[in-house]
Amino acid sequence: MAPRLLQRCIPLAGGRGPLSRSVVTAPVSAVNSFNEWGRLTDVVVGRCEGSTIPRNEPAFMAKVPKSKELFKMEGPRSQEAIQRGNEELDNLVRVLEGLGVRVRRPEGFDFDRPVQTPDFAVPYGNTSAMARDVLLTVGNEIIEAPMSWRSRFFEYRAYRKMLNELFEEDGNWLWTAAPKPTMADSMYNLDYPVDPTKDASPERRKLIESRIYCTKEAEPHFDAADVMRFGKDLFVNNSYTTNRKGYEWLRRHLSPKGFRVHFFDFPQDYAPMHVDTNFVPLNSHTVMLNPERMPRPWVMRLLKDNGWQTIEGVVSGQPIPEMSQCSEWLALNILSVDEKTVLVEESELPLMERLDKHGFTCIPVPIRGLAEFGGGLHCSTTDIRRESVFESYFPQIDHLEARGEDVHFAPYGAESPAVLS
Ligand code: NVA
Repeated sequence: MAPRLLQRCIPLAGGRGPLSRSVVTAPVSAVNSFNEWGRLTDVVVGRCEGSTIPRNEPAFMAKVPKSKELFKMEGPRSQEAIQRGNEELDNLVRVLEGLGVRVRRPEGFDFDRPVQTPDFAVPYGNTSAMARDVLLTVGNEIIEAPMSWRSRFFEYRAYRKMLNELFEEDGNWLWTAAPKPTMADSMYNLDYPVDPTKDASPERRKLIESRIYCTKEAEPHFDAADVMRFGKDLFVNNSYTTNRKGYEWLRRHLSPKGFRVHFFDFPQDYAPMHVDTNFVPLNSHTVMLNPERMPRPWVMRLLKDNGWQTIEGVVSGQPIPEMSQCSEWLALNILSVDEKTVLVEESELPLMERLDKHGFTCIPVPIRGLAEFGGGLHCSTTDIRRESVFESYFPQIDHLEARGEDVHFAPYGAESPAVLS
């Protein structure tokens, strides 16, 4: 059966300078999400039961603040933690359903069992609470991310039943699994310095400034949460969880469909893992940035030259939850339900005030208990469907594309893309 076409033809260029934004048609599908801000109509919300604390492993210590103490513990998470996390997620489901969003859940999965392949064995898995890390929705395609923590090797299993049902329900979407890396020792910098995020040593700062991370370039790997979607343009974060080969896999996979895939980094993020506390698009012309982890100058210039405004995020300053795997910047891990409405952690009052001043409606939602599972409102959800089309929000890149220039920006180190210099 041929897919129906959703006709959209109104460019959003008004008042943005000489270049206009382009729009094309997209097939209607149960899976349809091209950006982070269109009206959300169908979403996955994770679940906590069966979650474990992984045993320390090569890519682990470097990533998580307070990791030395945190990973003295391992094995099943406490019943209290699971109950607290699940209560928050169940409440999030109610909030989303109250807003008319259809919610799907992964199946309960027991992570308290060994993860073993020909290349490694670890005693525990991780969690199905962080749907955004595993599943990347780009248009009508859901890509299972290859990931790089051994404990997360089989995490996709928790979503397979749900995806299989969706596969039976609708014939217009693509289900793709990116190749999983071996996660053998050869993938990791085994002697990478370990120290807490805030007080990173000069050695570690230098490595991050040079884009040298605890994983190497042996095999492609990425986490889905290192990707931000802006219609035709995707921004992929070079981090402890996403290497250049992982970016390259995404570029080669998505560019034949017309996507422009960029690779950037945050040189002041001293435990870089996942982009959704650093670079958070709120609508078709506004990005929230982390003032302590600013992007490189070429990214700022690209935003400015294409009519984007930036808002600095702010944190409440309350102590980070005892067992959190994240920094205080988890406050910025918010979920847009449409161009004007965002779900924000209920205690992040300064952030809500700031967003309110910029015309956004904030819906407070308690989610701090989720920090120990690895994230907040954006991390624990992933898009199935938003009202969004394959559309450009970067007229400057359209212009380069029309001239046959390279439109995938992936400079090395601190360089800028030549075409933008
Ligand atoms: N690495 C981020 C968390 C991402 C969800 C941070 O701790 O700031």
